[in-house]
Amino acid sequence: MAAKRDRRRIIVRVIAAGIGVFLAIQLVPYGWWHDNPPVEEPASWPDPQAEAIARAACYDCHSHETRWPFYSYVAPMSWLLRRDVEQGRDDLNFSDWNDSDADDAIETIETGEMPPGRYTLIHRDADLSAEEIRSIIDALRVMEDAG
Ligand code: HEC
Repeated sequence: MAAKRDRRRIIVRVIAAGIGVFLAIQLVPYGWWHDNPPVEEPASWPDPQAEAIARAACYDCHSHETRWPFYSYVAPMSWLLRRDVEQGRDDLNFSDWNDSDADDAIETIETGEMPPGRYTLIHRDADLSAEEIRSIIDALRVMEDAG
């Protein structure tokens, strides 16, 4: 009986410690950041369908129009999302568009590097069909030539 009670006490302590750690990491300010700065130079899409695809598949990480989900307010997910958005905006930004970026974007879509698998796992509408891929790449080609 004593062994059983000891085991239960240990389990309760482990759970309490886990909750304590979870609450403590919420205090790390890194995860509080949810910045959507003003849109500077919006990418001008030649057709609304391609724009809708890009908004569903790219804009959360590559624009100033990030849709922050509820779990972006909960560490440690908030840390991962912040890193994705900061790095993503740094590399390619549809809200601060430079025509020469189109080439890069086409390449990552063609190789299947973008959007990342960890994103399409949760955002099924970002898991692009062959037709959607063709449509967004055609639009990016037009945007590239326009620049
Ligand atoms: C979940 C966030 C996320 C989404 C959604 C996303 N990206 Fe990215 N992207 C990143 C991150 C983070 C980087 C920088 C680090 C890296 O290369 O993984 C990046 C890098 C890039 C780069 C530059 C790096 C390179 O390899 O040349 C391009 C271009 C790019 N993404 C295009 C896109 C396009 C186009 C889409 C939509 C079809 C998209 N991304 C969707 C997060 C994302």
